Amino acid sequence: MSLSVKHLLGIKELNREDIEQIFLTADNFKQVLQRPIKRVPTLRDTTVVNLFFENSTRTRLSFELAEKRLSADTINFAVSNSSVSKGETLIDTVNNILAMKVDMVVMRHSASGAPWFLSQHVDASIINAGDGTNEHPTQALLDAYSIREKLGDLKGKHITIVGDIMHSRVALSNIFCLNKLGAEVTVSGPPTLIPKHIEALGVRVEYNLKKALEWCDVANVLRIQLERQHKPLFSTLREYALYYGVNKQMLDSLGKEILIMHPGPINRGVEINSDVADSKQSIILDQVENGVAIRMAVIYLLSGKRDMGD
Ligand code: CP
Repeated sequence: MSLSVKHLLGIKELNREDIEQIFLTADNFKQVLQRPIKRVPTLRDTTVVNLFFENSTRTRLSFELAEKRLSADTINFAVSNSSVSKGETLIDTVNNILAMKVDMVVMRHSASGAPWFLSQHVDASIINAGDGTNEHPTQALLDAYSIREKLGDLKGKHITIVGDIMHSRVALSNIFCLNKLGAEVTVSGPPTLIPKHIEALGVRVEYNLKKALEWCDVANVLRIQLERQHKPLFSTLREYALYYGVNKQMLDSLGKEILIMHPGPINRGVEINSDVADSKQSIILDQVENGVAIRMAVIYLLSGKRDMGD
């Protein structure tokens, strides 16, 4: 039981067997998480650092909990109270942490490619917790795992990804992951938020949200990432919500029930209304729950251990 890669830098580098192995391992850990004692001794001799150079709620807490559930020692690094402000480089920062006998690095960074760069300079396994507009591999894994849990095998399933595709590492990792699992993907959003030539990644583009939703079994709705938009790409949030906001009235008009996903954080009333986010069609909190089992599986499989300890 191991992956074909030493690091989890992106879904692009994984093969289908890797993804299926992560899902099977997560199934096992999900059972552990249903027990009164939600912990296995598997990684009691392993230390993991969570290195967050960018804000996070779900991913940071989910990784930390996954590490604790595996009995690993964890340390947390937040850039805001670190010596990075005194000019320390990324490699120096990480080498100093690794000198304290740390075995694995979970890293989020605003620069696309930062985890790859680090992987070229240090020996420890690196797990990408989101890098710029590049990839967010564990998010895509937990998204696909959550669809599999509700709908079974992803082969032939229709998934629409809605919103700010241009700036979304979640979109790119989801496209790679869903394609590898045999799902069909459509992206939908305003033309200014859909990268040119995205069809080359094996997806359809549908600018009309209603048509995109009529086609799909699952809609994964993305946050508008205003912090990454350096010039206006649509008139107002109100206009965006009018054309691309997912609301109950639109869902009721589809004549079928689709699953609704969102990686979070949600901008209620912009890309998704509360009557959808909190509806029974929404599996947003199932995604968060599954994130812990998926991250346990990734950490375990990269650790080189051969005993799940369950
Ligand atoms: N989905 C996700 O990455 O959320 P956070 O930014 O809160 O980690």
